[in-house]
Amino acid sequence: MQPIDTDFLAATFGLGGKRALITGASSGIGAHLAGSLGRAGAEVILTARRSDKLDAIRAKLHAQGLSAHVQTLDVTDAASVDAAAQAVGPLDILINNSGVSSEAMLADMSERDWDRVFDTNLKGAWRVSRAFAPALIASRGVILNVASILGMGVLKTVGAYAASKAGLIQLTRAMALELAQDGVRVNALAPGYIETPINAAFFATPQGAKMLRGVPQRRLGQPADLDAAVLALVGPGGQFTTGATIVVDGGHTLSLS
Ligand SMILES: NC(=O)c1ccc[n+]([C@@H]2O[C@H](COP(=O)([O-])OP(=O)(O)OC[C@H]3O[C@@H](n4cnc5c(N)ncnc54)[C@H](OP(=O)(O)O)[C@@H]3O)[C@@H](O)[C@H]2O)c1
Repeated sequence: MQPIDTDFLAATFGLGGKRALITGASSGIGAHLAGSLGRAGAEVILTARRSDKLDAIRAKLHAQGLSAHVQTLDVTDAASVDAAAQAVGPLDILINNSGVSSEAMLADMSERDWDRVFDTNLKGAWRVSRAFAPALIASRGVILNVASILGMGVLKTVGAYAASKAGLIQLTRAMALELAQDGVRVNALAPGYIETPINAAFFATPQGAKMLRGVPQRRLGQPADLDAAVLALVGPGGQFTTGATIVVDGGHTLSLS
């Protein structure tokens, strides 16, 4: 059998010498991607609001010999975002992953809940990207926005979340267009249902099991299922990819309305 060409892999996916910041790194997908980017060679900056969680994840990464730092950051607070941009300095990769959901029929939803979802998922990604744009332009860097297949299809009770993620996909395209001449690439990832602490209990219920039957692969994704697409989008092999949205969902979008 032919051995793997490690030079080829590094030229396509390697992140050695890169500094990567992940929002929402205190849990779930963001915490997982911190390890993945670290293993690909990046120095990782973990951000979120809960610093105790971030410290625990940093310790885990350090124990694996990976380079990681912690910076508290609330994506809904411009002062917090701007302070983080000042503190972090040079940056090559920004992953806008922070997100919240809300379950309610649109006719019953409070303005407060609507605003929380949009301020975090859509405006938060813009706010953080704006703050780090000078650093990313200086490094000819890359932004990855974590959207969702609910930005493309809809289900009842998650209308605000779906609309915010649809907006994030279009924001991705607009940012890609505006930043292309500066050498900055901007792409989106649209995961299907991925097992994280936030939804593991739900998918163990009969309703969760019913929802899973709508997924052609009949399974929940795991955070590691996202690694190949993420590295393809932020790694050096993705130089000609910008304004794209990659779906990783076990075929779920094929059966969404
Ligand atoms: N899991 C799925 O099935 C799935 C599918 C498609 C898309 N996604 C998207 O993937 C992303 C991560 O989701 P997840 O499943 O990993 O959820 P999660 O475990 O609940 O993680 C959400 C993260 O967002 C952070 N966050 C929330 N509000 C924030 C704020 N105001 N400022 C900064 N950080 C904030 C949280 O950190 P703090 O609370 O510490 O601030 C946490 O680290 C989200 O954008 C979600 O919409 C998830």
